Amino acid sequence: KPLWLVVPAAGQGRRMAADRPKQYLPLLDRPVLAHTLERLHSAFPQARLILCLDDDDRWFTPEWVPFAQWQRVSGGAERMDSVLNALNAIDAQDNDLVLIHDVARPCVTQSDLLALYQAAECHAAGALLAMPVADTMKRASASGTSLHTEPRDALWHALTPQGFRYRQLYRALSDARQRGTLITDEASAVEALGDAPQLVPGRRDNLKVTHPDDLALAAAILTSQLT
Ligand code: C5P
Repeated sequence: KPLWLVVPAAGQGRRMAADRPKQYLPLLDRPVLAHTLERLHSAFPQARLILCLDDDDRWFTPEWVPFAQWQRVSGGAERMDSVLNALNAIDAQDNDLVLIHDVARPCVTQSDLLALYQAAECHAAGALLAMPVADTMKRASASGTSLHTEPRDALWHALTPQGFRYRQLYRALSDARQRGTLITDEASAVEALGDAPQLVPGRRDNLKVTHPDDLALAAAILTSQLT
């Protein structure tokens, strides 16, 4: 049964304020995107990759793609549109598993990838890598004062990959788009259908490269994982 990997990589990465989208910034010896694809490939060498790229992308090079079976699709205005474009482009069966992974998470480990895959396989509502919050959580007012403290024991950070059945994911995302709800991960769309994806505790170092400081941190993480 085929496994589909969707990697949304059509963002501009504006918070990074760099000369190019963050997935093309150098991280150790190669761009962020090359690391991310290599990690996915070592866990799932037989998977079929769908890479969402901006039509005006000047930085992408196919040499960075280690997969034998892969295709490029156009990105959309929002992340969810990019993922929907990917789902529209493939000839998947309803029950095929689709894993979605941010291009900006190059430090994901093989063991987390396999744990997520197994959880997505055995939970009907799908699964996502996640991490319990460690800090005390504050509810802020519009002016930036601390209104109250949220109980944190039931709060988790949502990471990627997230994995769902093709049909369920397609329905969840197209419903969200029709409602006009802006979602920042696939699990949100699935929750809106009344389903409850499984949280799979993942490693803390599955960092999303977002701000300028994150590149040095990602380099340190990759180096420490190799030793
Ligand atoms: O900006 P942020 O880090 O939240 O983006 C998450 C992921 O979604 C990134 O991998 C980014 O490239 C991707 N994305 C996309 N299409 C968009 C916006 C973001 O593929 N329109």
